[in-house]
Amino acid sequence: MGVAVNARVDDANPPARAGQAAMAPIDCALDAVTRRLDQQRLREQFVEQGAFLYLDAFLPSDVTAGLADSARALVPAVNRNYLPGHKQGGSVSRHTIDRLAPRIAELYRSRALIEWLERITGDRLLPSPDDDPHAYALYYYTREGDHIGWHYDTSYYEGRRYTLLIGVIDDTSCRLDYELHTRTPGATVVAGSIQYPPGAIVLFDGDKLRHRITPSKAGEMRVSLTFEYVTDARMRPWRRFVSNMKDAIAYFGFRQVFRLRGASLPGKDTA
Ligand SMILES: [Fe+2]
Repeated sequence: MGVAVNARVDDANPPARAGQAAMAPIDCALDAVTRRLDQQRLREQFVEQGAFLYLDAFLPSDVTAGLADSARALVPAVNRNYLPGHKQGGSVSRHTIDRLAPRIAELYRSRALIEWLERITGDRLLPSPDDDPHAYALYYYTREGDHIGWHYDTSYYEGRRYTLLIGVIDDTSCRLDYELHTRTPGATVVAGSIQYPPGAIVLFDGDKLRHRITPSKAGEMRVSLTFEYVTDARMRPWRRFVSNMKDAIAYFGFRQVFRLRGASLPGKDTA
């Protein structure tokens, strides 16, 4: 089971410290949040749990409320997908978010957030490339049976890829089930299950955490925001192709994934 840490901070706009007058409002808010957390203890928990950390309250309430408003406004733009035996649900890619809800991108690029994530993971983190539809995306569970089966968030990049899940709306019985240490030789697998509420975060190395979301029931609604950060933004052409096809079929549709991708087919990608 992940360690829950109560870290809710409601005063999202503290007075700027000396030298911080130019900080964006979202950076001020997240700087205030992260300075109140026990960074060393959370770093230790992250390592002990095999590159996994759950905080049951993280975002300021006004930021969370803004995300929920955006998520509801984006419902008409949701791309539904269904892979028998594996997943069913809706997604909104970063390309659509950039057009219709650009404040989410500001949160994704927040220096205060990224620097805190770097301190917890111990890695230098980069935003995912501009043509990655998963860089920041919303995932919707709005119909009976919406779910995703057991999987890893496999990195197709040269380096590691970290996933940050952010609770936005949760009026469901869906649970995030997970298993720690599954790929650590000789380690005992530790199973856990959480329902991360709006404002909560889950941070993990996508290649290390086996996880799933259990099926929603009729009349329920759940929206999760996912941020992906990488340690090396390069991707080999064949992996790029596989990644694009997976994203097109399982998540965002061919129009979303390939709309910017005239140069991303095998043999043409120089990333
Ligand atoms: Fe996942």
